[in-house]
Amino acid sequence: MTQRFKTIIEPFRIHSVEPLRMTTEDERGGKIRDAGYNLFALRAEDVLIDLLTDSGTGAMSRDQWAAIQHGDESYAGSPSWFRFLEAVQELFPFRHVIPTHQGRAAERILFSVIAGPGKVIPNNTHFDTTRANIEATGAEAMDLLIPEGREPRTMHPFKGNMDVGALEQLLAERAGDVPVVFVTVTNNSGGGQPVSIANVRAVRAICDRFHVPFFLDACRFAENAWFIRMREPGYADKSVADIVREMVSYADGMTMSAKKDPLANIGGWLAMNDDALAERCRNMLILTEGFPTYGGLAGRDLEAIAQGLHEAVEHDYLRYRIRSTEYLADALDRAGVPIVKPAGGHAVYLDARALLPHVPPLQYPGQSLAIALYEAGGIRGVEIGTVMFGRYPDGSEMPAPMDLVRLAIPRRTYTQSHIDYVIEVVTAVAANARELRGYRIVDEPPQLRHFTARFAPC
Ligand code: F0G
Repeated sequence: MTQRFKTIIEPFRIHSVEPLRMTTEDERGGKIRDAGYNLFALRAEDVLIDLLTDSGTGAMSRDQWAAIQHGDESYAGSPSWFRFLEAVQELFPFRHVIPTHQGRAAERILFSVIAGPGKVIPNNTHFDTTRANIEATGAEAMDLLIPEGREPRTMHPFKGNMDVGALEQLLAERAGDVPVVFVTVTNNSGGGQPVSIANVRAVRAICDRFHVPFFLDACRFAENAWFIRMREPGYADKSVADIVREMVSYADGMTMSAKKDPLANIGGWLAMNDDALAERCRNMLILTEGFPTYGGLAGRDLEAIAQGLHEAVEHDYLRYRIRSTEYLADALDRAGVPIVKPAGGHAVYLDARALLPHVPPLQYPGQSLAIALYEAGGIRGVEIGTVMFGRYPDGSEMPAPMDLVRLAIPRRTYTQSHIDYVIEVVTAVAANARELRGYRIVDEPPQLRHFTARFAPC
């Protein structure tokens, strides 16, 4: 269908509103200092535009809230479980679906069963919780992204693709140590960049040759499928649901956080075809999450996810979703702010290392930029760089491949004028970037330090 007008509007109108609390720059300076310069330690009501994450922060639809009223809280065999299972299997037809309270619970169960010392698990790029759950078992988490994916300004339609040559080499040397190969769609830690069907197919072929199972971390499956529809030859006329089913047909299993593309505030699952593996995972599930027909979830959560899955693959929604992220990226790019290009699906990633060349990576340019955005405009983003990934299990510290600040866009939550405000604030902060100082860490935990570390200006 050709469209007569070029403006892509939100394919919804607002049904219920939440107030934003206005704060001054002075107030915010005090709040962030009291928070040890860690944006995770702020009270959310002190944040004006919260772009910390797109996880569980989206607006649910009228139909999701209505579905919640159908939530059946039976301990075993609830009708809500069967509605959830049907909605999941319609898009992800794996034999076994194991519900969990969120994505990392699925990761923890899977890796505690199949990983362990001496094992290595490759991915295009592991998300931080995925890496931490692998490392917690004593195994190694390895990122095998195509080289273009590590270069912020190199244009490539599928910058999330796995480096299949590197994967082949790893498996030729150590297939016996690799219990599973993972691919994350879209590649969150690498800029929210998509993975092509051709790449997934190539990974499948290599896994077949070496008899290694292949799993998807499919949190942003619908956004990834929309990019395939837009960019990959042969997919322009296919429905997103069909593209998802094709992608999934190459995998042996998946992990999912329902807090992303499934449009829910909580939830996740682990799914697979292997009966024996499923049994071991279910036994773990019962220990820590709950009975297999609810996992860590209430019946009403299962209902919200089931309805969210139907809405996640609607084309009008995805067209608006991907375009609104691109709108922010285009404006920042035009203003000369260095960003990861092309725009990701769920977020825009500012290249703090390029914007703050005077701040060395071990003084955390991403953290410095994220703090400045909060102080100046009340915008909360998240550092994805040396704070998040620079500390290794052996205690050493090294610069991460990139120092980025992610501005993640919650689904269906902010309007275009909110985003216009973000553009104005980021542009103003970028214009004064030379004045921003580095930070040092004064206190940090041994793992996942970005959540709780405390910082001080250098
Ligand atoms: N995998 C990916 C690619 C993710 O982005 C996340 C979460 C997870 C797994 C874990 O899922 O949060 O439900 O336990 N990402 C969020 C973010 C937190 O902000 O990017 P979870």
